[in-house]
Amino acid sequence: MTLSPQDACKMNREVCEMAPIVPVLVVNDVTRARPLAEALVAGGLPALEVTLRTPAALDAIKAMSEVPGGIVGAGTLVTPQDVKNAKAAGAKFGVSPGATDALIKACEDEELPLLAGAVTASEVMRMLEKGYDLLKFFPAGTSGGAPAIKAIGGPLPQVTFCPTGGVSLSNAMDYLSLPNVICAGGSWVAPGKLVDEGKWDEIETLAREASQLGK
Ligand code: 3PG
Repeated sequence: MTLSPQDACKMNREVCEMAPIVPVLVVNDVTRARPLAEALVAGGLPALEVTLRTPAALDAIKAMSEVPGGIVGAGTLVTPQDVKNAKAAGAKFGVSPGATDALIKACEDEELPLLAGAVTASEVMRMLEKGYDLLKFFPAGTSGGAPAIKAIGGPLPQVTFCPTGGVSLSNAMDYLSLPNVICAGGSWVAPGKLVDEGKWDEIETLAREASQLGK
């Protein structure tokens, strides 16, 4: 069985509709994973992206996946092996800074719904040709930000974006108020220092603030 692009986008749309913000997480210590996920879910952010940038990431996905009410995906997918590892760890969706044919095929083969990154009209059109109409817009801040997404929505209104990279509490609404933005990703809800210090209440407060951003 393979996962069709249409089904992948449908599944990711459901994930993206759960809350306005998807936390982008870098987990260094697996013992932090579960309480971190619990704090974010309690704060109203159930969809969590764990980036595959640390040795602890795959174990963190496993640990976080046990938290009731959460849905955990893997970020920073670059190679087909990343996709296999993410799937084996229990990731329910996959996020990549970009997209390659090999990565797209691996996600379809492993039935891991891919949220692929694209920023230019040609990158977006290439993904549309393959059947993907829900994309990550990365790196959002340095790729023109909300005005760029608005401009792409002129000729390509059929594509919906999850901007990530440079999104913060103060500018998130610039993105979320656009009709072609479904949610945004951001790391600010789980600052490394608070995670290291186990300040779960403070992280829950940041999550609650983010979860109440109007869409
Ligand atoms: C990332 O891949 O690190 C994300 O885009 C998060 O970016 P941010 O730290 O600017 O939220």
